[in-house]
Amino acid sequence: MTVTTSEPRRVLVLNGPNLNLLGTREPGIYGTATLADVEALCRDRAAAHGLAADFLQSNHEGVLVDAIQAARDTASGIVLNAGAYTHTSVAIADAISAVGLPVVEVHLSNVHAREEFRHHSFISPVATAIIIGAGLNGYGYAIDQLAGLP
Ligand code: DQA
Repeated sequence: MTVTTSEPRRVLVLNGPNLNLLGTREPGIYGTATLADVEALCRDRAAAHGLAADFLQSNHEGVLVDAIQAARDTASGIVLNAGAYTHTSVAIADAISAVGLPVVEVHLSNVHAREEFRHHSFISPVATAIIIGAGLNGYGYAIDQLAGLP
């Protein structure tokens, strides 16, 4: 008898600058859940879909670009909260276009109800889906969305 096992599909959950401070950072805007809570939710939701999840948070734009490039070989999709780089980074948008992986853009807060400079996203035009203002739940919805893609 031959038993074959297949590796689970993987998703990368990528968080940008200052999201390491979740829990204490402006809780009135971002809530009290920590980054560890975000990751636990994503891990559980991914597992419920038979997926595995990898995590990276960085305050550095180039590290996020490197992670997106590397995901080409390891992940079937990316959940991305690029934090403030959402509103500034052509490099992150280009990396997403370059790798061609589905990316679900997530923001904890409703950026459209906030300052004008948060209304524009360089990520949105290259994202497969966008989940804004759903707090911690948004990460779970993003995993659901990736799980439903072929
Ligand atoms: C954020 C919104 C951004 O405008 C901000 O710079 C962040 C967090 C959010 O999750 O709501 O760092 O991406």
